[in-house]
Amino acid sequence: MCGIVGYCGVKQASEVLLEGLKRLEYRGYDSAGICVGEGGCLTTVKCKGKIRELRSIVPVDLKGTYGIGHTRWATHGEVNDQNAHPHSDCSGNISIVHNGIIENYSVLKEKLQSDGHVFKSDTDSEVIAHLVSSLYTGDLEKAVKLAAPLLKGTYGIACVHADEPGVIIGARNGSPLVLGIGNDEMFLASDVTAMMSYTRQAVYLEDGEIVRIDAHGYTTSDVTDRAITKKIEHIDWELQEIEKGGFPTYMEKEIFEQPLSVERAMKGRLDKEIATGHLGGLNMTSSELLNVERVKLVATGTSYHAAMVAAYLLETVARIPSTAELSSEVRYKNPVVERNALHFVISQSGETADTLYAMRELQRKGARVLGICNVVGSTIPRESDGGVYIHSGPEIAVASTKAFTSQLTALYLFTLLMARMRHLSFEAGSRILEAIESLPGLIAQVLSNADAIKTVAHKYCAHGNFLFLGRGLNYPVALEGALKLKEISYIHAEGYSAAEIKHGPIALINEETPSMFLVPDDRLRDKVITSMKEVKARKGKIIALAVNGHGDIDEIADDIIYVPKANDILYPFLMVVPLQLFAYYCARKLGRDVDQPRNLAKSVTVE
Ligand code: F6R
Repeated sequence: MCGIVGYCGVKQASEVLLEGLKRLEYRGYDSAGICVGEGGCLTTVKCKGKIRELRSIVPVDLKGTYGIGHTRWATHGEVNDQNAHPHSDCSGNISIVHNGIIENYSVLKEKLQSDGHVFKSDTDSEVIAHLVSSLYTGDLEKAVKLAAPLLKGTYGIACVHADEPGVIIGARNGSPLVLGIGNDEMFLASDVTAMMSYTRQAVYLEDGEIVRIDAHGYTTSDVTDRAITKKIEHIDWELQEIEKGGFPTYMEKEIFEQPLSVERAMKGRLDKEIATGHLGGLNMTSSELLNVERVKLVATGTSYHAAMVAAYLLETVARIPSTAELSSEVRYKNPVVERNALHFVISQSGETADTLYAMRELQRKGARVLGICNVVGSTIPRESDGGVYIHSGPEIAVASTKAFTSQLTALYLFTLLMARMRHLSFEAGSRILEAIESLPGLIAQVLSNADAIKTVAHKYCAHGNFLFLGRGLNYPVALEGALKLKEISYIHAEGYSAAEIKHGPIALINEETPSMFLVPDDRLRDKVITSMKEVKARKGKIIALAVNGHGDIDEIADDIIYVPKANDILYPFLMVVPLQLFAYYCARKLGRDVDQPRNLAKSVTVE
């Protein structure tokens, strides 16, 4: 949420900053700006709109070999040119970009205004520029170190001063900041995608750390001036992974990558000899795993839906009482940490503020918290007590797709591991293992049906309301289908357990409100068909996601999207992919910006 980039080197900074911002645009895209320094003079260009709008107003001859840039997702103050970053102090000598929220900004602003500072925006962020300015006595790093303890809230900051050419100071507290090491050039960014065209050497900052970079190097320290030695890490992602690779959108590319991303999530983790899952990063001994009496999974959005599927599976297959909870609610409910409970936090980005804070609260109470994350080196994996990387590769589209199926893959392997340590026989374990191994091929089969799904999407996309209905393991998938549709097509959609509609939502059924029924070939199939009949009796249109070769659904459903027959536990994968495609084709037909839907941003790093 909000992208920050900084550059010091020999190249024209404006080009590097604009390219970095383009790569970070998925983190926020309502306004953007850059500030470039040259010969003791800072030039800021910023505007409402996307990076392409910014690029169109940046002078081609804008000179300067260092600078900072920002792409915004508004929290304080409406979306307009003044509220776009960078922000400067009254003299225009200091310029800052900020990601996060300064909670005490109004107190600080009042004080600074009474000292004569004049503010130009409605943002919380501008206060940082004036505060640093009020503490500046010729050394920007020192001024930032004095300002940092006065700021309450979260921040990733990059800051420049006209009198200190070629120098950027960065500070981190709760919002990600990483620096990139090049040859005679240095980068600072909120995530590594901004710098991947130039370097693979990264240093991740921790909360409380301050960094000073110039073209030739960097120093890291804390606000008390204590020097901190940092580990240089290698960025493994390939450049082509952050490009569209011939697809019209990132979302389509990421949906179609799923046979591969699911395979990567299971690679090296299937132990056929003893029919179990092998997850090296859990950092738990066999006896510790055996002592687990309860599993709590904490996440938000799509990751929460993966948590719900996993909780159901852990309880039914591994026979361990398990629950999924929303991270935003966990943090504030004074959660009880039970003895022998194991906690998972699930987050694609590894930076989601609600989930990160829930994890810290649980850890403060003595919980052991494992992470299921995608972005290597992000905050949750670094602060958790162990966990599993899902290795999906970068997920750039704002709507999460491939991360969901990879999260499920990791959680299925964990379930198998726990079940095999308890009651599950070698034969039953082998069947689950083989089922998991067959997933890439089955998902590829589902994807080969994309044209049929597109036809159904085009037939229904003019409807203003949808219900998504499923049961058991597929109830969370119905929620996920509804979330996908609403976030990228802006069509109102609700997900329910198919059994629940008779308790209220059936009142919504009429000819204008289609229902998408998830009808896997499992033990709840007949129950779902009963719910379908109830909807049919009320003239509701029905789209069924069903298994090939079952004639009975033809009589009830208006349209059917077929999925292959599979082991019962695999249907969440085989049902979610058509729902992703359905939402995608509806949104495209309606002319929506599927990669950057309105009001949203990837990686929600504010509460
Ligand atoms: C929906 C979506 C969001 C995220 C949620 C959690 O398509 O992308 O609901 O799933 O913001 O994000 P992570 O998994 O990064 O914690």
